[in-house]
Amino acid sequence: MKPAADLDGFRAALRCLIADGARPHEVIWDTAPSLFAAEPGDESPPIALPRGVAEKIALLVCHRDPERYSLLYQLVWRVRHGERALPEIASDPLIHRLHGMEKSVRRDLHKMHAFVRFRRAEAEEERFVAWFEPEHFIIEATAQFFVDRFRGMYWSILTPVGSLHWDRNSLTVGPPAMKSDAPTGDAFEAGWRSYYESTFNPARLNPDVMRGHMAKKYWKNLPEAAAITDLIRSAPLRVKQMIEQQQAMPRKRDPKKAVAAMSDQAPKSLAALNRLIAASEPMVKGGTRAVLGEGPLHAPIAFVGEQPGDQEDMAGKPFIGPAGQLLDKAMAEAGIDRRAVYVTNAVKHFKFEPRGKRRIHSKPTAGEVRHYRWWLEKELDLVKPGLVVALGATAALALAGKPLAVGANRGPIVLDGRPGFITIHPSFLLRMPQEDKAMAWRQFVTDMKHIHAIAEQSRVA
Ligand code: URA
Repeated sequence: MKPAADLDGFRAALRCLIADGARPHEVIWDTAPSLFAAEPGDESPPIALPRGVAEKIALLVCHRDPERYSLLYQLVWRVRHGERALPEIASDPLIHRLHGMEKSVRRDLHKMHAFVRFRRAEAEEERFVAWFEPEHFIIEATAQFFVDRFRGMYWSILTPVGSLHWDRNSLTVGPPAMKSDAPTGDAFEAGWRSYYESTFNPARLNPDVMRGHMAKKYWKNLPEAAAITDLIRSAPLRVKQMIEQQQAMPRKRDPKKAVAAMSDQAPKSLAALNRLIAASEPMVKGGTRAVLGEGPLHAPIAFVGEQPGDQEDMAGKPFIGPAGQLLDKAMAEAGIDRRAVYVTNAVKHFKFEPRGKRRIHSKPTAGEVRHYRWWLEKELDLVKPGLVVALGATAALALAGKPLAVGANRGPIVLDGRPGFITIHPSFLLRMPQEDKAMAWRQFVTDMKHIHAIAEQSRVA
């Protein structure tokens, strides 16, 4: 038997043992592994087992307990010797023990799905690497989960019990690794931490619930968790300061502030906000109809563009023209389903200059972007995406509230308290010289894969 989970080895051993009529107490699993290893040409017939038992075996070979194979063989033996209903008898000591082990493996699988965090590899730009310390030998059992989610990326998951490597076509299981083999934090780590800090309300602190959601042993690999200890420690003081601040606030209402607060009253639903936007006067020159955002509430990703173009204005839908088609193609290559994401624009009207019969796109000014910002903020508050992606500098300005150069800030970043990502606007690809296009396209698709990875990770967590 292989040292970690060895489902094939166990099945092969099972066939030999059952064919030989070996009783459980006659079998020594841990000291004579080669005796039962699957030999080429092993002709023993396959064994029919109830489905529940086969499933238990697949899970329990992952458990760390050295007695797992012996316990599983006892189960198989007894089921095949007249105790068909045994798996249902919770009071049986064997079933009781196996049940506890099964729960522990399932919990470990869940933790691995939720707490693996990919970071971009330093040496290999396109590879994402994660470090994780599972309790059991579960890495092969989780492989399909990560392949399904990150099919379009090159990634590795390193653990002390083995490693998984995916090259977009095939999966390789490699030897155990060390934590130092994995990259340490990237720019996004700081982002997660400050996002977590900014959304943390000390008055609602319940350390037990927090620990329940995120077991302490996983904290060290989670960028956002670095903030937890400090936040818990400082919570009582922060609550006291909040109360003092409230008491110090003037009792008499300032009428100017009251008017500002009233005009700041946000619509309570996206439909109400959209009605407001659709009914408002365009704040840019030429704009005709408002092009509203599209996509589901709580989308894992919200893509924010600059402003609708000519075709978007005519159809009343965002990103359907040439830039939108490139965006769709990049999403598809990265495994992002456009129907599942939210797509909107910083400026809701098409700003253009008429030239003959044509309407030529005209870039919105910083002031215009600021005017539309209130709407965008409310929109994102209502949609509550997991990650906001700024497509180009105008979207970055709208989301951050300050100018951010795309070149210098490209990648994961916190945008005004939201987990975000800055990349190029797809129309940039349309305008660039032919010889630079292939490389720029690859980088854009790599960004999309990174975006997908971040969004999936936060969704699972
Ligand atoms: N460019 C944008 O920024 N948004 C659109 O909707 C279309 C093109």
